[in-house]
Amino acid sequence: MRTVVLDLGGVLLSSTAVLDALAARLGVGTAELERAYFPPREGYDLGDPDEAYWAAVGTALGIVVTPDDARELTAIDVAKWAELPVESLAFLDALGDRRCAVLSNAPAGLAATVRTAPWSRRFAAMVFSAEVGLVKPGAAIFAEADRVFGTHDCVFFDDKPANVEAARAHGWEAHVWAGPEAALGVLGEDAGLRWGREPRVRSELEVLRVTVEPDPPGPVFRLVYRSRLRVSARNSRAELGAIYSKARSKNAGLGVSGALLVWNESVVQVLEGEEATVRELYATIHDDPRHDGVLVISEGTVAGRVFGRWAMAAVADEGVPDLALLLTPGSGAASRPPTTPEQDELLDELREVLRS
Ligand SMILES: Cc1cc2nc3c(=O)[nH]c(=O)nc-3n(C[C@H](O)[C@H](O)[C@H](O)COP(=O)(O)O)c2cc1C
Repeated sequence: MRTVVLDLGGVLLSSTAVLDALAARLGVGTAELERAYFPPREGYDLGDPDEAYWAAVGTALGIVVTPDDARELTAIDVAKWAELPVESLAFLDALGDRRCAVLSNAPAGLAATVRTAPWSRRFAAMVFSAEVGLVKPGAAIFAEADRVFGTHDCVFFDDKPANVEAARAHGWEAHVWAGPEAALGVLGEDAGLRWGREPRVRSELEVLRVTVEPDPPGPVFRLVYRSRLRVSARNSRAELGAIYSKARSKNAGLGVSGALLVWNESVVQVLEGEEATVRELYATIHDDPRHDGVLVISEGTVAGRVFGRWAMAAVADEGVPDLALLLTPGSGAASRPPTTPEQDELLDELREVLRS
């Protein structure tokens, strides 16, 4: 069967959120960081250690990057790159039963994270530059990809024309990525027609959805706790981003829904799901050094999920809340999905806790 081979960065994954988060952490502008970020990337994609890469980025920016900084920057980089945008999810869904594979220039840490992300299950095989010690557009990585994919019959999409040229020279059909719609047009017929519809829920793809289906409606265990964030003010945005991103990917797989409210340093989190699963997750969260003073406010079985659509809704005073932040009524509410009366009621109670 023909294999659809996809690049990650610039195709399925976007650099925008990555660069924004890293620029905020480094205290530089996004455009400035972009100029420093990409040139040393080839060595990194070939296996350079994290520290060497971030030292090179720091040098280009005129900033000293300590080993601790490098660890933190790597964590942000990996977490942000591994987030699959909803548009990409819809694209993969529209590909239906087609066999798909990934061919990506990526450092080892990112490769490892992508391999454990739920959405990676959509792919029959993945080749990452740092893992094979070969990099696009070199010819050798395409030969390696044939071997791993078990076929030479591939149609490849990559945002870099040089990689597309190299793939064609190797004998693959290859196209410069011009968005999901264009790719589906290239792939033809039925796939193209499905684009634009709501992603279908297919058993194999269900875990990819960032939302937790309210399955089946009915009683659920809910635990609510409060705590105080213990991350430095300088890093709080990036740390919160990392927490939300971990919560979303892991909770979706666990069937846990909920909301995380953050106001200054105060945190209140709601976790809903199967009791043993919620308790085990709570035990892990309890021991996380990024917060302390963790105290259960309520726990027990309730009539049903209130945050059924959310693996973890963000209700934060910075970043981009998913649900309207009514601590300051009306703030940013217009562009947010509306809340249900049940959500409003629970959120109001939680805001009271935050203020107290
Ligand atoms: C305030 C706060 C809330 C968190 N919420 C979640 C969550 O809802 N789900 C989750 O998986 N991890 C959450 N975490 C992170 C966990 O403490 C832990 O780092 C993570 O679950 C470990 O994931 P791993 O087993 O994949 O390494 C939270 C951390 C903090 C500080």
